Amino acid sequence: MVKVNLKGCDSFVKEADYQKYVEKALVAYDVLDKETGAGNDFLGWKALPDGTPESLIKECEAVRDDWKARGVNLVVVIGIGGSYLGARTALEALNHQFIQDPAKPRVVFAGNNLSEEYLAEMMDLAEKSSVACIVISKSGTTTEPAVAFRIVKEHIEQRYGKKEAADRIVAVTDAARGALKTLSTQEGYRTFVVPDNVGGRFSVLSPVGLLPICVAGYDVRAMLKGAAAAKAQVSVRNADNPAVQYAAMRNLQYFELGKKVEVLVTYNPRFMFLGEWWKQLFGESEGKDGKGIYPASANFTTDLHSIGQFIQDGDRCMFETVVSIEKSNRSVVIGSDEQNLDQLNYLAGQNVEHCNAMAALGTKLAHIDGGVPQIEISIERVDEFYIGQLFYFFEAACGISAYLLGVNPFNQPGVEAYKKNMFALLRKPGYEAQTEEILKRL
Ligand code: PA5
Repeated sequence: MVKVNLKGCDSFVKEADYQKYVEKALVAYDVLDKETGAGNDFLGWKALPDGTPESLIKECEAVRDDWKARGVNLVVVIGIGGSYLGARTALEALNHQFIQDPAKPRVVFAGNNLSEEYLAEMMDLAEKSSVACIVISKSGTTTEPAVAFRIVKEHIEQRYGKKEAADRIVAVTDAARGALKTLSTQEGYRTFVVPDNVGGRFSVLSPVGLLPICVAGYDVRAMLKGAAAAKAQVSVRNADNPAVQYAAMRNLQYFELGKKVEVLVTYNPRFMFLGEWWKQLFGESEGKDGKGIYPASANFTTDLHSIGQFIQDGDRCMFETVVSIEKSNRSVVIGSDEQNLDQLNYLAGQNVEHCNAMAALGTKLAHIDGGVPQIEISIERVDEFYIGQLFYFFEAACGISAYLLGVNPFNQPGVEAYKKNMFALLRKPGYEAQTEEILKRL
């Protein structure tokens, strides 16, 4: 179960204020639950944990097995924003951090930036591998993945021929619309559907996340089970609901204590990408209409030696949300040393994770003393089941929190602004008038 511990906020928050925000969060909970709020045509993510048919998982497994039979050892997953962050988060959390399992394909991500060097170096790897590609774009028209896909598609076609290329490319896109759908039909690619009512940042439990995670060799049934367990946990209308508690406390921090920044902290480098996924989820869902908590992330103890200084001592604009893992999957014990020159013998016989836990407690107290309230969210361990729990927990909490804040959680009008300028500067047909205007400003 996902647990929320608010003790680290006690010295900053009056109980009566917290109760007031719990009441507000319960009103927001009703809006999400009864589907009466803005953006209620984008609530399909709520049905994914327990409504995903077995046939869809079998289709994902068929792609995995087909590519294994073809000897594929590199899968390029092309997508940006919600079309890649969830899968990448899961894989960074689950993969061995140093060794590639030879029984599984290596999965790399492209189309999430426009760096020429990134793409060129990714293609260096492709040249040396047996490549397949999952291209993911709900709209089917996003520039970054479209550019990467053009290059990867050409490579696959040249190496394996058009017929085999059609077996080595799978598209995840809209059921009916968009350039990627048209191309897939024309080329005969296998396709998976991003449901109409599921927005990018809420799509990790749809084929957008499930397909790459399954192809990488992980158990997506367990992930959906974990998400379903979290769904049961956050589908109760009371003050013990952890999503209600988290939504209430973070809005209290924002409105009553003037905290404008939330730092999502983890003590395990496996979860560095969880911060990236969470930043998109909350940033795109809440940052609008001049409102919203700025979502930042940090990985401790690493970042205690960099931005730790600011968190302890800089502008008191922030609170922390620590995602903690109760049990380590591995054990490394610190040994004893006769000379003890490093003076670490007092730790001999201790697990490294014990030191990590003590660092976390020490940091918690120091940050509280420094004026940084702390929310703690914990799961038992890192595996598919618990990652599924975290995904659904944060999605539900985000919906409740954004409604409490007073915004539509499911639109993202702000992401269009840069695109118009970029298209004009790239001289995309149809943008001629804007090109002249923009050039005058530069
Ligand atoms: O959350 C979102 O809606 C966005 O981040 C999209 O996922 C992102 O812009 C990619 O869009 P698309 O899947 O249409 O290429």
